[in-house]
Amino acid sequence: MDTAAYSLADIAGSRFPLLEYAPDATVIVDPHGTVRLVNAQTERLFGYYREELLGQRVERLIARYHGNQFEERSVYFADPQVLPMGVGRELYGRHKDGSEFPVEISLSPLSTTEGTFVAIAIRDVTERIATQQRLQELNAQLENANRAKDHFLASMSHELRTPLNAVLGFTGTLLMRLPGPLTNEQERQLQIVRSSATHLLSLINDILDLSKIESGKRDLSFEPVRVEEVIAEVYAALSSSAHDKGLAFTASAGAQPAELVTDRRALHQILLNLANNAIKYTQTGSVRIDTALATWQGSSALEIGVSDTGIGIKESDLKRLFEAFEQLDPTSTRRFEGTGLGLYLSRSLTLLLGGSLNVVSEFGAGSTFTLTLPLVGRPS
Ligand SMILES: Nc1ncnc2c1ncn2[C@@H]1O[C@H](COP(=O)(O)OP(=O)(O)OP(=O)(O)O)[C@@H](O)[C@H]1O
Ligand SMILES: [Mg+2]
Repeated sequence: MDTAAYSLADIAGSRFPLLEYAPDATVIVDPHGTVRLVNAQTERLFGYYREELLGQRVERLIARYHGNQFEERSVYFADPQVLPMGVGRELYGRHKDGSEFPVEISLSPLSTTEGTFVAIAIRDVTERIATQQRLQELNAQLENANRAKDHFLASMSHELRTPLNAVLGFTGTLLMRLPGPLTNEQERQLQIVRSSATHLLSLINDILDLSKIESGKRDLSFEPVRVEEVIAEVYAALSSSAHDKGLAFTASAGAQPAELVTDRRALHQILLNLANNAIKYTQTGSVRIDTALATWQGSSALEIGVSDTGIGIKESDLKRLFEAFEQLDPTSTRRFEGTGLGLYLSRSLTLLLGGSLNVVSEFGAGSTFTLTLPLVGRPS
């Protein structure tokens, strides 16, 4: 406000109601630091009647004022600009009863017919500071809890995997009849032991992977990868289960880029998950993996499609497909083993690789999941 043509008495009067009703306590002091005017909020905040403050030194209201106040004030008068204080330093207001409270202060020059004064706006920041502290505490608690969770998951997964590998190893040697012959029934039961243990192991691996991705500890190594090799590995790993179900399983090496720079293990894991699903959720027909070159987000990319002629996905289910622990048809969970982590993991890995994972599906007819990867993935 332009006050140069007014006296302090004018400012105190009804000409400047904004000052009187300002939400901050506002104190006008002269160059010697003597209080010349205070507004209504000053009375409320500090507990004084204004008559008790007029003519007093401003230090009565402001406690623990670090630095040399007088000096600051003369510097201030030499170069009068709006000057925020209390930022980065501890300033306290002092109530009439002597109790202190944290404040934020800003100073601005006030020209009047009687010369230049300083308007000091004082804001009680008790609540803000309490909220900040509470937030910091909560943040620290969250970080601790998160670290504990990561540690728990990592060590539990390790502790669980070790004995499980022993179960798998010895089941394997029994099934190979190394210790001696087996009856048909023993062989049948051992096969159940093996498939359950394999399932449990993949579950533990998924959870371990998830905890690594979420804590940012999944190390990726970007290198030139021959995509057809990775597809061939996935094909080899799953072809027997596809053929057991009587499905036509093909992996056609369509368009191939000269090279794709990506993390080989992650790519393998994503494709294995997708192809596994395609086989799992298809009773008759075919499962196909193929590749195509494309342009994605302005640069060259490779699309790897995994298509099936299976049960398909309802339009309304598409958005929760990629969420952790989501399995679409609750009645089918008995029918199809799994935890609902596969697609969540796959999409998380895809994002780490700088690509995208999308699905097109027709309920009852089949689905196509398309993994799009930039030819040169961004190392992150
Ligand atoms: N090719 C597909 N056809 C139809 N439905 C699918 C297909 N792939 C996934 N789904 C649906 O999406 C859900 C989530 O898939 P996701 O791979 O995440 O979990 P899952 O296969 O149930 O378990 P797992 O963690 O063992 O992979 C599945 O339960 C299934 O309902
Ligand atoms: Mg799956």
